[in-house]
Formats: sequence, structure tokens, C-alpha cells
Amino acid sequence: MERNLYSLKEIDTNDLISILNRASAFKNGEISHYPDRVVGNLFFEPSTRTQQSFIMAEKKMRIQNMDLYPEGSSLVKGESLYDTVRTFEAIGVDAVVIRSKEDRYYEALRGKVSIPVLNGGDGSGDHPTQSLLDLMTIKEEFGDFSGLKVLIAGDISHSRVAHSNIHIMERLGMKVHLAAPPMFQEKGRMYQDMDEILPEMDIVMMLRVQHERHEVRTVLDPLSYNRSYGMNTDRIEKMKSTAILMHPAPVNRGWEVTDDVVECGRSRILCQMGNGVFVRMAVLERALRESEK
Ligand code: CP
Repeated sequence: MERNLYSLKEIDTNDLISILNRASAFKNGEISHYPDRVVGNLFFEPSTRTQQSFIMAEKKMRIQNMDLYPEGSSLVKGESLYDTVRTFEAIGVDAVVIRSKEDRYYEALRGKVSIPVLNGGDGSGDHPTQSLLDLMTIKEEFGDFSGLKVLIAGDISHSRVAHSNIHIMERLGMKVHLAAPPMFQEKGRMYQDMDEILPEMDIVMMLRVQHERHEVRTVLDPLSYNRSYGMNTDRIEKMKSTAILMHPAPVNRGWEVTDDVVECGRSRILCQMGNGVFVRMAVLERALRESEK
């Protein structure tokens, strides 16, 4: 049984469904405690939701945790990620959660460390636990995935959430549509006019404009960005009566979603965050259970 979680591309569909089922069980009150286990949380890039919901999941499972603060660690002396993780392993940590700004940082660890690595987001690469919580939220809403139409809109090229979700949603039989301004489009993908397809969509997933990953500030004005590519009350009203709005957050209010829409009736943004705790409990259990002491 695989215990790492690098990318959803590397796990089979049965494994994925079983993670979602365990997450639902945890949400419904299932208890699983690992009080003699220690998980290291290594966040080399800022995070609120992923980091804090992993910590909450660890608390609920009575897992002990250790947080690495990169600025106060030997990373500032030039120590590598590999040596840092080997250090955690050597001092007795049972698994690590890592977020890094480097795409596929986990290749430096693959096959070289014996403790499970859970990817909390790698650069613009993948964000597997975000996809899992998105899928959990969709399953709760619609019961299944096959045949659902989803629009993913915004800063596609810099989004690890888009990269994870496009792959896994298509694998689960969803029809994925993309809309993005030209500077955020990736080659080899098809883009559509948001306003044309909006009324047919079951799910509209907006993406954060990732200003920090742009070499030059290409988008200057929130109002004109929102008018062309964002979600607002006009577009909310054009959605199907059963359709939902999602966003991985943090939200740039006023840019990809206007302030009045972030918490509207169709929005599942806070529900996504809540589900994040339960999918992280499920992946922690998956990482720890095979090596029970
Ligand atoms: N969605 C998400 O990954 O949020 P954080 O960057 O706050 O963890």
C-alpha cells in the first residue's frame, strides 16, 4: 500500500475513493488515534488553510507534531531539503507534510527516505489534498462525479490546484472546461468564453490571481479583471439553479470574486476549508496505519 502522497496522478482511483470515504467517515464522527506517532510539518511557502488544517487533523487524531520554521533552521545555512527530511527521519518523526515553492520538490526524496511524504503543495505543480477536499465537497453536493460539468477559471498556468483538478476530475468522468486571460493560458489546452458556457456548468471553480508567481505584474486593475474573467453578482445569476461556486482560497476579494459573492448562497468556499481537515485526517491515517507500532 502506497503511503506517500506526491500527486493524485500517482494514486489509483480505488485508493482515491477510499481516502474520500475515510474523510466522510471522520466527518461523521469516526475516531482514529495515533498518540505515539509524530508528524513533521515543513512549510517553506506561506499557508493558512493547508498548514492549519493539517495541524487540526493531527490534533483530532492525537498525533504529536513538530513544525519546522525555515527561517530559524539550518536551511538558512544551505542545508538541502533531502538532508532536512533525513534529519526528521533520524530523530524519530513518522511522516512529513511538505509545502515548497519548487515544482516536484519531492523528486529529491522519492525512494531515498523511509518515512511517508505528504505533499502540501509544490510550486505550480500539484496540490493533492486541495483536490481531495474539492472532490469531497463536490461528492457531498452531487453524490457522484461522472457527467458533472466544471468550469475552472482564472490563473490556470500558475495554479497547482488547476493542475491537480484537471487531471483527477477528467479521470473521474467530469467534463472540465477552462477559461483564462491569454497571459494565464497554458499551451496545449482549450479555453472557452466564460459567459457562453457559464449557464451549463454544475460547478464554477475560480482561481486566485497568483501575483507572487508573476515575473511582471501583468494584471493591474481588479475591476477590469473581474469584469472580464471574475465572478460577480451578474455571473452568479447566470448560473444553473443547482450550480455551486468554489475557490481554493485565499481569495483576492474584488479580483477573481467580488466581495458580495464570496460567501453567497452558492458559495462552498468555507465548506471546502472545513472538509480540508477531514481529507487530511484520511491521508494521515493512510500514511501512518501501515507501520503501526
Ligand atoms: N488553498 C490553500 O492551499 O490555501 P493556503 O495557501 O492558505 O494553504
